[in-house]
Amino acid sequence: MSEYIKDIDVKASTILENNIQEDIAQNNLNIKYFYICPSIPEYQHQWLWDSCFHIIVNSHLNIEYAKKEFETLLKLQEDNGFLPHIYYWKGNITQIDQLVRKYYKFLSKSSITQTPILADALCSIYRAEKNIEYIRTYIGAVRDFYDFLYTTRRNPVDPISLLNIIHVWESGIDNSPLYDAPLNIDTSKEKLPSQWMKALLEQLNILNLCEWNMEKIFEMNFFLFKDILFNCTFIEGYRLLAELYDQLEEKGEAETCIKRADEMETILIREFWDKEEGLFFGTYGNENKINKVKTSLSLIPLILTNLPNNIAATLVFDHLLNEEEFWSDFPIPSVALDEPTFSDQETGLLWRGPSWININWFIIKGLKKHGFENVALQLAQRTFDLIEKSGFSEYYHPQTGEAMGARDFGWSTLVIDIKKQLFDFDLDFIFDKEWTRIKRLPGF
Ligand code: GLC
Repeated sequence: MSEYIKDIDVKASTILENNIQEDIAQNNLNIKYFYICPSIPEYQHQWLWDSCFHIIVNSHLNIEYAKKEFETLLKLQEDNGFLPHIYYWKGNITQIDQLVRKYYKFLSKSSITQTPILADALCSIYRAEKNIEYIRTYIGAVRDFYDFLYTTRRNPVDPISLLNIIHVWESGIDNSPLYDAPLNIDTSKEKLPSQWMKALLEQLNILNLCEWNMEKIFEMNFFLFKDILFNCTFIEGYRLLAELYDQLEEKGEAETCIKRADEMETILIREFWDKEEGLFFGTYGNENKINKVKTSLSLIPLILTNLPNNIAATLVFDHLLNEEEFWSDFPIPSVALDEPTFSDQETGLLWRGPSWININWFIIKGLKKHGFENVALQLAQRTFDLIEKSGFSEYYHPQTGEAMGARDFGWSTLVIDIKKQLFDFDLDFIFDKEWTRIKRLPGF
């Protein structure tokens, strides 16, 4: 094992510590905040899912930081459970912030949310401390956020009763080609970044015209994406909440969470599994249209607890390990290599090709869950290779492993969780093993 990897905890701690933001809010709310921003200088505000990833990592490295960041996330929660995707604690507002903030309901936070990882964050704190009183204090707020999504983001008249995201920023997979068609982005035309910018603002404008009222938003029928990542993390989040309720001996609450998770998981597999392609695709609009672009999100259902073995094996053997699609030298490309929209260029548009550590983290967990231990280890090894080669970057070139986007990026420290929680055994084993060829085993 290299010296670099031996020292990785210290390196990750340094990045997270350097990115700490702590003060009293610059708006008139007079609230004390503590969070780790994704990267200085690119991203100085607090982002919901970034913070959850930082909490997961700091549950291993510095539990006090983890708890303070978690508690800060809840400070702007609305009565109905809503949590914003961005918290504007600080005064420094960028040009883009200025453009978008005029559509939001408040100046202190955005009016859209982000992929739910909050239950994972609370669970990590519990695993680190085993302090049931802490869970008792905060589980209600976390549950409120999940219930908010459950009650407001499923369209009562839609036959596919899954969650809709109302803006691309809600998934966190900003400019993915998955969203080109729903936003009428024409890739054959020039000026993709400006088409995208227009679309992002247009989306906010429509939400604002609907007064952020879900009934009107469903009626307007613009975008409404049933995102795979958003729904899968949500389903597994309810399961994690159920585990915590079991610890609290609140059986009824645990059962409700499991029941909802099971129902939604069944719908997701039934509706979004494309047998012919052997991949998952979400739908958009009230008509449930499909945009069949192969992205890393098509593999995310691997995290689902009850995913049938044959489906998991197809995702792994036919796609993840396919060198023409997702098994690049430094996987997992956010868009399959053989997609016409795949791009490894730094264009300002995110999620159109490069590899991201948080996606690898999800997939490694899914692989372990479904017994693909060997593949999980290989993906973990390639993920460590990325960090060793190019540090903690925002994203990476999927073939060369070069650093792309922002540097010293918070959630890329998720490799610590991969190491500590998923592979808490002899690290030399990961790095020195002669890998056996991965084959489809009988029964899969
Ligand atoms: C980019 C990412 C998004 C993330 C944000 C802050 O917009 O696409 O997922 O939350 O940066 O890191």
